[in-house]
Amino acid sequence: MRPMPPGGPSPRDISTREDIEVLVGAFYRRAFDDAELGPIFVDVARLPERLDEHLPRIVDFWESVLLKTHAYPGGAFWPHQQLHERSPLTAAHFARWVDLWTATVEEHFAGPVATSAVVSAQRFAGAFHRRLAGGSGLAIGDRPTSG
Ligand code: HEM
Repeated sequence: MRPMPPGGPSPRDISTREDIEVLVGAFYRRAFDDAELGPIFVDVARLPERLDEHLPRIVDFWESVLLKTHAYPGGAFWPHQQLHERSPLTAAHFARWVDLWTATVEEHFAGPVATSAVVSAQRFAGAFHRRLAGGSGLAIGDRPTSG
């Protein structure tokens, strides 16, 4: 038998929708418990009560981004605009979101797709925050249905 590498078997890369379900489920557990983001997810958006409806859409989103399917129809920015109007989303919130996402990805997976999950999250977080801070909610070449 080959000896196990220190710390157990090396994580594999993200390659299926089931992998994304694992990732997204683990991320939300962290986010709901987080001192900075938990109150937004739980008290403002009341997401835990709507998780069954919400999780498949998030999984669709990441499947489209990472596995290049067309599962997600677009429009990811708009719920955040609405949320921001009720409870301002700051640069610190987005930085915390990226930190939690990165830690969750790195805990479960490793490889080019996992790296892409981290890089894409950084890009989306930056873009969402700029659009919120800029006020119009619209970016060049963007349509509400194709976010
Ligand atoms: C401050 C950081 C963030 C907070 C607090 C946050 C919170 C939320 C909440 C509460 C919803 C549910 C909205 C609703 O259905 O009422 C949501 C939806 C969503 N979020 Fe975020 N989010 C953040 C950043 C991000 C980032 C950076 C991404 C992308 C990488 C992202 C991707 C999504 C997607 C895809 C949806 C589903 C949109 C849909 O219903 O089609 N979020 N977010």
